[in-house]
Amino acid sequence: MSEPAGAPAPQHPLRMSSAPEATRADGISPLARAARHPLMLGLFLPLQQGAWSPSTWPRSTSWSFPYNAECAVRADELGFDLVFGLAQWLGKGGYGGEMQFRANATDPLLVTAGLAPLTRNVILISTVHILYGWHPLHLAKFAASIDHMSRGRWGLNVVTGYKKSEYEMFGIPPIEHDLRYEMADEFCRFMRRLWAEGENLTVEGRWWRMKDAFVAPKPAHGTVLMVNAASSGAGLAYAARHSDLIFITSPAGADLDRACEALPAHNRRIKELARSCGREVKTIINPHVICRETEREAREQRRAILAHQDPVAADNFYATFAGGDQASWRAATREDWVIGGNVHVVGSPAQVVDAFARLRAAGCDWIQVNFYDYVPDLEFFGARVLPLMKQAGLRAA
Ligand SMILES: Cc1cc2nc3c(=O)[nH]c(=O)nc-3n(C[C@H](O)[C@H](O)[C@H](O)COP(=O)(O)O)c2cc1C
Repeated sequence: MSEPAGAPAPQHPLRMSSAPEATRADGISPLARAARHPLMLGLFLPLQQGAWSPSTWPRSTSWSFPYNAECAVRADELGFDLVFGLAQWLGKGGYGGEMQFRANATDPLLVTAGLAPLTRNVILISTVHILYGWHPLHLAKFAASIDHMSRGRWGLNVVTGYKKSEYEMFGIPPIEHDLRYEMADEFCRFMRRLWAEGENLTVEGRWWRMKDAFVAPKPAHGTVLMVNAASSGAGLAYAARHSDLIFITSPAGADLDRACEALPAHNRRIKELARSCGREVKTIINPHVICRETEREAREQRRAILAHQDPVAADNFYATFAGGDQASWRAATREDWVIGGNVHVVGSPAQVVDAFARLRAAGCDWIQVNFYDYVPDLEFFGARVLPLMKQAGLRAA
């Protein structure tokens, strides 16, 4: 039996959970907990060597599991709502240069599984390239397993792969952009049916088929938190039908003022598109935060990161995003990529909170911060920025 395309996916419930295996100490589902905050807060984990910034300015940041676990556990203690890992496939040496930028990178699916027993409340989101040889049954089972291990705190960032070289690594011919999202649509519909069905499932799709397939346990909330990042028409149409959370990028590049002018219309368009499918989606953007006691110190830090850029790594990193058929980073300059992330937020704690308030006013529901020197920057953020976010009404007390 094949399922007709067209029915939008059910949403991750924003409600009290009745499933015992999903019940937190306070009985609130992780997404409901996050939604209590006017601005939800995530941390972009540094799973890749050099994280976001092709710069050799000294720092502690490491791609290692212990370092990432330290970041995730601390983010959880500080009350962050989610931590997130991206996935990439690079050849030997990564983006190269003196620093061998991103030469080592752990897999986010395995890392989020490892973080499940180490953390208590934070949502763990992993990226998976679903078109690199996966079957919906594999991922439905893996997702339900990690969701179970984390007691209902796992989310899936569905990516279709925008780099020809990655497809070639897997020995698969590159797939045309919009077709990738049609395939993702079928993949996710089948995965959801495996989570929903109480009986064995037999389906005949255009790309995948199953006979008497079954998944148990089911995800604690009937589905995992579904996420994707998109800017193109096809990517946003997929997001509107499947995602609970959509990663957006600034249509105007990393400059905060220009981003805040462009983002309201962008956010509105995405939410209207989802509503036309009968769904409510949240948008999330990833600011790169450089915060110090004074604006002068923060700007000096930004200058130091830029001054110590690794030119070869920066050229290769920038070229990846400037090329390809993805539409999310068209406006980002090479200099933007040396700092990394999306919108750049540089200043004192009060200025950073003001920038977050502007992103909220521009229609972003979540921010997911990335840092240059993760552990100390996260600690400073917890001590100096989070209390001001509460004072400003961006975070619930
Ligand atoms: C915050 C963010 C995280 C992303 N993470 C990944 C990733 O881990 N792996 C990947 O291949 N693509 C990643 N992407 C790229 C998206 O999957 C997608 O290719 C891109 O946003 C272009 O969207 P489009 O297909 O609508 O043009 C990410 C994009 C953003 C904005």
